[in-house]
Amino acid sequence: MINLDPDAIRHSIGEAAAARLASFDAFSEIESTNSFLMQQNGPPPGRMTVAVTDNQTMGRGRHGRTWQSPPGSGLCLSLAYTFQVPPANLPALTLAIGLGVIEALENEGVGGVQLKWPNDLMAADGKLGGILTESQSQAAGAVTIVTGVGLNMNLGEISDFELDMGSARRVADLAGFANVLPKHDDLAARLIDSLCATFVDFEADGFERYAQRWVERDWLFGREVVIDTPQSQVMGMGAGIAEDGALLVDTGEGAVCRITSGSVVLA
Ligand code: BTN
Repeated sequence: MINLDPDAIRHSIGEAAAARLASFDAFSEIESTNSFLMQQNGPPPGRMTVAVTDNQTMGRGRHGRTWQSPPGSGLCLSLAYTFQVPPANLPALTLAIGLGVIEALENEGVGGVQLKWPNDLMAADGKLGGILTESQSQAAGAVTIVTGVGLNMNLGEISDFELDMGSARRVADLAGFANVLPKHDDLAARLIDSLCATFVDFEADGFERYAQRWVERDWLFGREVVIDTPQSQVMGMGAGIAEDGALLVDTGEGAVCRITSGSVVLA
């Protein structure tokens, strides 16, 4: 671990999240914090487990992509939470998680981060981070959700060409974007607080409470996009999201298409 102090993180976690924390693991190096949590038994319902590192060697992204975070350059944090009863509209949880990450960044003094549907974090038109959400069925109908956040903290001399940025064209890091670079430990603790609150609130109220806030952060709004969905390719202009979190795309002449799954690039 170059930038992380597990004890400092643990002590900085707020009371509400600490009360729900079933286990906390920090790694000096690990293949993937998401893979680690997916291989564990899920926490009991209403509790969470957390894994964090700044050196992930086989990080995973959406659509089978890799997530690269060379030693010390980023923050990789995964959190597993078990729902006794799977909430309605579970796919929208990952959108709510994006807002949770933004809240954590704001609590550390970093504003201006936007969301590219469904879950890229964008800063100054570059990809600052991403979210990977996976699920694991449990006994008696319970479900554990593992959500992993990767944030570029300081990429130094590493250029866009050396990183697999998926569908994003440019890469961004907090060192280049934020006025003040948050301490890794503080940001990790704020992420744990915010993501815990997001799981708990989503379990109680679903996505509705997040939809408007998401619209305010929508990086795709008004941009020309091309979307590869499992069924077809859709071209048009980002037109916000629906109440259930589906991406809306204006395909011309007043027609609006709903996208529930797909990979989005700028046209
Ligand atoms: C994406 O942009 O496609 C999602 C990237 C998610 C990366 C994070 S880093 C922590 C966690 N562990 C992983 O292997 N992936 C996620």
